[in-house]
Amino acid sequence: MAENLMAQEQMAQLTGQIEKAAGAALERIAKLASLPELNQVKVEMLGKKGILTQMGRAMGELPGEVRPLVGKMVNKARQEIMKALEEKEQALEMQALEERWQKEAIDVTLPARRRPAGSIHPLHLVLADIKKVFIGLGFEVVEGPEVELDYYNFEALNVPKHHPARDMQDTFYITDELLLRTQTSPVQIRTMEARRPPVRIIAPGKVYRSDADATHSPMFHQVEGLYVDKKVTLGDLKGILTLFARSMFGEKRGVRFRPSYFPFTEPSAEMDISCFICEGSGCRLCKNEGWIEILGAGMVHPRVFEMVGYDPEAVSGFAFGMGIERVAMLRYGIDDIRLLFDSDIRFLRQF
Ligand code: PHE
Repeated sequence: MAENLMAQEQMAQLTGQIEKAAGAALERIAKLASLPELNQVKVEMLGKKGILTQMGRAMGELPGEVRPLVGKMVNKARQEIMKALEEKEQALEMQALEERWQKEAIDVTLPARRRPAGSIHPLHLVLADIKKVFIGLGFEVVEGPEVELDYYNFEALNVPKHHPARDMQDTFYITDELLLRTQTSPVQIRTMEARRPPVRIIAPGKVYRSDADATHSPMFHQVEGLYVDKKVTLGDLKGILTLFARSMFGEKRGVRFRPSYFPFTEPSAEMDISCFICEGSGCRLCKNEGWIEILGAGMVHPRVFEMVGYDPEAVSGFAFGMGIERVAMLRYGIDDIRLLFDSDIRFLRQF
C-alpha cells in the first residue's frame, strides 16, 4: 500500500517533469528563427546531455511498475520533439529558399536595355543602288588600286605629262611616277589590259584630290563604267545611261547630254537629269536651272584603245564616271559633303 502510494507520487512527479521538460523543449523549438540556430539546438537535444537522451536514460532508472506508463509518455514526448524539430527544419528551409528567391528574382517586366543598331551609310546605300542597276544590265563589278601609277591614272588615259587636263585634278603625288588616283578611270585601262572584248564593268572606289570645301572632299568616291564590244554606239551610251538615271531618280526623269571634254573620250558629254525637286521649273537644288549634272561620259578615245592593244577599227565603247557623294547629296538633300565623313551618329541615324 505504502509502496503503491510512493509509486503514485513518484509517477506524478515524473510525469510533471517530463511534461515540463518537453514543453520547454517544444517552446524553444517553436522560437527558432534560423537554420544554423536550429542545427545547434538539434545537436544539443540529441547529444549526450540532451533532453532526448536524458529521457531515455531516465527510463532505465524507473521502478518496474511505472516503467510502462512513464515509458509511453517519454516516447510520446520524444516523438513530439523530434517531429517539432523536423517540421521546424522544413519550415526554415522553405523560408531560406523563399528569401533567396526574393533576392535573386529578376523583374522580367523591366524593359530591356537597347543595343544601338548600326545602319547602312548613305554612300553605301547609293552605291548598292548603282550596282543593282548595272549588274542587272550584265555589268561586272571590279576594283583597282588607290595608290596608282601615273601611267594608269593619266598617261594611258591620253593625258601625257604636260597636258593641261592634269591641272583640272589636284593630284596628290607620292613620287614622280606614283600617286593617289584622282579618278576611277585607271581601272578601265587595267581591265582592258587584262581582258579581250567584250568588256562590261563598273569600278567603284575611293579617289583623292587636293581640294576641300562644302562640296569637295580630299577623299571621295567614284563609280567608273566601261562597255566595249563590236559596234557599241553613242546610242547605247544614251540608252543605258538614261535607263540608269530613271532607275536611280525616278521614271519621270528627263535626261539631256551636253557636249564636254575628257581626254580619254571622244565625243565627250555630261549628263543632266531634270530636277527631281521642282520637276524642271527651277528651285534651290538645281540652282534655278531645272537640270542637275549627274555624270561625265563619252565614247572611248581611239588613243586609249591603242594604249591597251585593242584595235580601234574593230571595237568601240563608251565610258562614264560619277561621284557617289554627289549622288548621295542630291538624293538625300545633304548640303555639306563633310557630313558624310564626320561619323556623327545624329546624322547617320537618319538613314
Ligand atoms: N574620270 C572622269 C572624272 O573624274 C569622269 C569620266 C569617266 C568621264 C569616264 C568620262 C568617262 O571627271
